[in-house]
Amino acid sequence: MSNYDPVEVTPLHADEMARMQADALDAITAARDLDELKQVRLAHAGDRSPIALANREIGALPPAARAEAGKRIGGARKAVADALVRRQAELEAERDERVLVEETVDVTLPADRAPRGARHPLTTLQERIADAFVAMGYEVAEGPELEGEWFNFDALNISPDHPARSEHDTFFVESVESGKVLRTQTSPVQIRALLSRRLPVYVISPGKVFRTDELDATHTPVFHQVEGLAIDEGLTMAHLKGTLDRFAEVMFGEGITTRFRPNYFPFTEPSAEMDLKCFVCRGASAVPGNPPCRTCKSEGWIEWGGCGMVNPRVLIACGVDPGRYSGFAFGMGIERTLMFRHNVEDMRDMVEGDVRFTLPFGMEI
Ligand code: DAH
Repeated sequence: MSNYDPVEVTPLHADEMARMQADALDAITAARDLDELKQVRLAHAGDRSPIALANREIGALPPAARAEAGKRIGGARKAVADALVRRQAELEAERDERVLVEETVDVTLPADRAPRGARHPLTTLQERIADAFVAMGYEVAEGPELEGEWFNFDALNISPDHPARSEHDTFFVESVESGKVLRTQTSPVQIRALLSRRLPVYVISPGKVFRTDELDATHTPVFHQVEGLAIDEGLTMAHLKGTLDRFAEVMFGEGITTRFRPNYFPFTEPSAEMDLKCFVCRGASAVPGNPPCRTCKSEGWIEWGGCGMVNPRVLIACGVDPGRYSGFAFGMGIERTLMFRHNVEDMRDMVEGDVRFTLPFGMEI
């Protein structure tokens, strides 16, 4: 003991040790997060920390002094290690609490839902129509929207000087001489069906048609028709009437009354217009003295579409023997049908794509 001069090994002096320990404990307390605490651990408990360096000095002490110095260092190290463990636990708890708050999910918040899409009522109506005819034994036939003039007009007995062919109604493609038009009706599918199928033929063909009309409440340049064609032996106008009556029932409900009114179409002879008894006033507005009806303009009937017995000229153009085969055809507007079925008053609603129009029709996928 007498040989021990503590001043010689300053770092092992009791005051010096106390200062190193206090520095370490202060730094530990001051660490604000786990990263800072990691730095503090390196600086005050790592291999190059003042206490570790002091520890190395023990060897320089006289043997008798070593035990006491060792105890002092051991005490300081333990105090620092304990403080580190405590501070580590505190900071971890703080972090966990903060994460819980920051990453909380409020399950009661309104979800950022992308509304589910659905098909347009015109599309689903076309499918309903096709279903009604498939149930009667018809097949669905298709034709191109960009159609040859011959199919759209000539083969249907619409001569070159027919007003419907003028540039006024028809979208010609490229040039008028190209012989190509955006089909103005679905009737050319009749021709395609007759040219490509074996008789008898029973086909239905819903699809887009195009005319140079301005978009307004009752017109749109792109609209939809459904074409029907039946060619067989022995078909008469009674078959036509029965078929369209069934079609009307499927569309507008049992008890709907229909009538045929004479009309003219180049591709049918005789031709008729199919009218529906007005489903709003039930025909009452046509009787003098009764209140007027907006839907049928007090006529009691509304026009649904054209029909007739297929003109033998059309059969001949398609290589069908009119002596053996006869048949009927019809063409209805899908937009009109949707308007009647659902009281849609303005055609623009059907093309503008506003979900407020389509939502009430339900989400048919
Ligand atoms: N294609 C005619 C139109 O666009 C509608 C039509 C009338 C189709 C009589 C037919 C029919 O098949 O027989 O106005």
